[in-house]
Amino acid sequence: MKFAERINQIPEYVPGKSIENITEKWGLKPEQIVKLASNENPLGPPKEVVEFLKLQAEKVNIYPDRIGISLLKKLSQYYSIPVENIFIGNGSSEIVDMLCRIMLNFNDNGITFEKEFALYKTCVKASNGNLIEIALEEKFKRDIEKLVDSVNEKTRIIFIANPNNPTGDFIEKEKLIEAIEKIPQDVLIVIDEAYIEYLSEEHSLIDYFKQHKRNNLVILRTFSKIYGLAGLRVGYCFASEKVIQALRKIKLPVNVPYLSQKGCEVALKCEDFKEKSKHLVLKGKKRIFKKLKENNIQYLEGKGNFYLVKDKNASGTVEKLESKGVIVRSLAPYGIKDYFRVTVGTEEQNNRFLEELIKLKEKIK
Ligand SMILES: Cc1ncc(COP(=O)(O)O)c(C=O)c1O
Repeated sequence: MKFAERINQIPEYVPGKSIENITEKWGLKPEQIVKLASNENPLGPPKEVVEFLKLQAEKVNIYPDRIGISLLKKLSQYYSIPVENIFIGNGSSEIVDMLCRIMLNFNDNGITFEKEFALYKTCVKASNGNLIEIALEEKFKRDIEKLVDSVNEKTRIIFIANPNNPTGDFIEKEKLIEAIEKIPQDVLIVIDEAYIEYLSEEHSLIDYFKQHKRNNLVILRTFSKIYGLAGLRVGYCFASEKVIQALRKIKLPVNVPYLSQKGCEVALKCEDFKEKSKHLVLKGKKRIFKKLKENNIQYLEGKGNFYLVKDKNASGTVEKLESKGVIVRSLAPYGIKDYFRVTVGTEEQNNRFLEELIKLKEKIK
């Protein structure tokens, strides 16, 4: 079999380990396992969504609306953005892939930072693009000016996760806007706000998008994180009408399942759930960091529902924690060997993690 050459350049995405992986490998029972590896919402999905989906299950024999008009209208009301400027995808992941496909010709440049969310890199390469990665400063800080300086006539698309996963780095809104205004209008700038709700909406670029109507700005959001609906696979973006039209041209006939669309419509009404999720993360982080400090364990706080723990033998610790039933994320695929990533869980889950980590702490510096 002779695959397209670019396929050999793309490493397979390494997701966080699943509960099944760990039960099999270590002979543990599912109820003994605490999964803090994939930045999921530990509260589960909103109850209202689950109840509604049970009632809707009998309708799965029909194809849903092609563009998901009912959910688009609800998103339009929620954000006060016209339907023509919104697109829903099978997770925001699908939209990342589609944006690459509408923008990149062979060997055009797609720019992002080093240690930025890995999917951007896969998708740029899979679309025959030339990936440019901007080097980071200390402690994974990103210098947006460096990125602006790297833009040239070959640049077609730029990806910035804000906050970034896995590093948690956040670029202030003002700096981001300054950079956007320096970048030529024919370069698509994608700001991925998958975790922005854990900060607050005032840090989002949505207001700027609404006021300035920049044709080359895309804001990406997801129902997978604060809404607790990662399994429904729904993401959405706000963009100019032209970009939305291009996405609609290449989309598969139906990309988001009926139940997923319906579930997200209900989720948009679950403000209390969102607040509770955010509060859990903020309160959890405070307690966790206090405990880490008391035990002389270094960490990087970052924004979002996760943090990094410093450990000179991160992979070894990740494996030892797994053997105790605590799943955290190795960052080896990102080339980060001295930190591992942990999702903020429920108080009980956080305590389990801390207990097991502190038992291993002699080996951590
Ligand atoms: C920064 C970022 N963007 C996008 C995604 C993809 O989310 P989804 O495809 O579930 O919407 C993730 C998932 O972890 C992420 O961390």
